[in-house]
Amino acid sequence: MSDSVRGRRLLVRDLAQLATPSGTEAPLRGAALGSLDVVEGAYILCEDGRIAAAGPMSDLGTLGDEVEELDGRGLSAVPGLVDCHTHACFAGDRVDEFELRATGASYEELHAAGGGILATVRATRAAGEAGLAEALRRHRRWMRRAGATTFEAKSGYGLDRETELASLRAIREAGGIPTWLGAHAVPPEFADADAYLDFALAEVLSEAAELAVAADVFLEDGAFDVDQARRYLEACRAAGLALRVHGDQFTELGAIPLAIELGARSVDHLEATGDDGVRALAASDVVGVLLPTSALFLGRPMPPARALADSGAAIALATDFNPGSAFCENLAIVSSLAVTQLRLTPAEALSACTINAAQVLGRAGEIGRIAPGYVADLVLLDATDWRYLSYHLGADLIATVIEAGNVTWSRDLE
Ligand code: NIG
Ligand code: FE
Repeated sequence: MSDSVRGRRLLVRDLAQLATPSGTEAPLRGAALGSLDVVEGAYILCEDGRIAAAGPMSDLGTLGDEVEELDGRGLSAVPGLVDCHTHACFAGDRVDEFELRATGASYEELHAAGGGILATVRATRAAGEAGLAEALRRHRRWMRRAGATTFEAKSGYGLDRETELASLRAIREAGGIPTWLGAHAVPPEFADADAYLDFALAEVLSEAAELAVAADVFLEDGAFDVDQARRYLEACRAAGLALRVHGDQFTELGAIPLAIELGARSVDHLEATGDDGVRALAASDVVGVLLPTSALFLGRPMPPARALADSGAAIALATDFNPGSAFCENLAIVSSLAVTQLRLTPAEALSACTINAAQVLGRAGEIGRIAPGYVADLVLLDATDWRYLSYHLGADLIATVIEAGNVTWSRDLE
């Protein structure tokens, strides 16, 4: 094939290091979770938005003229980060509640008093579709410059037909992978959770299923109980949606057995998960999504990540980015907490927010690795050792973000 037929080519050359999850499997678990290929002095060749080749500079042949080159000296490359759990589609903020929590109010008390999630529901409904889309685009810019090349985002701050569907549309338009979190909280116009679910399943589900990839439910005291969660998820599965569960955040109410019973892709949070839950998850195909910024932000116990990893569970990491429990869109900070608080290794943390996060989104064959055939989503770190991703806490580390072979953010262009 001639260069002109071959289309656009980008060569990232002379990288100090390249690090990627090894092999071709997903999800990675057990010893494979911490197994990376690390190449010193590396190149990555992108063609037509995909990775054509990657390896040591000594293997790089002659490429001809029509190749754009990017100088990787002093930088290391990792796969574009995959944020598989965010609530990025919201308007307003909860900085007042944040201050109240500092003076003693708990997250659960604020929720019970009509604040918390319902405060963001009021702001999101009031924003209108254009305002909401603009807010999401702003949040997407924050995520991109923090290295996320793929993001999932949930609805769940509308809880009426119009705003839930507007949220899912906005997420698609912003390039995100939409999840219908139609069962996030019970809005004030309904007497109870069952009455709200009657409405959501009858009036919203069929259109939400056209827009979303997955459905999610907040299984927790004060939100939805296990029978209500089962009812919601079974209806969503019948409509063709993959399933996710917010479970064991504050209370162990049977989220893991339910997720396994229904064949969910993931159960997310797990701060309150005990030994039986760890064993059950490890013996299943459900991915445990760990959200250490949420535990940190709320001053809650961290999830039992080491026990999960050691018992062979498939785990992923995500930000949970939202205005209440985790106002942080930064997966590098999540990786750092994964090492210092969850006691994962830097390699386990990298796999958990790349290939295993891709698995949660049903995209593991396409994203989450630097290997031929994968989408050319890359993050170049301003460090000669890729482990700085988790080591250099809170640093300004991201030098360049590449999506499908195009530079979408660069510190040099700021
Ligand atoms: O995952 N726990 C439920 N939902 C979100 C928080 C949403 C909010 O506080 O606005 C979470 O932590
Ligand atoms: Fe969440």
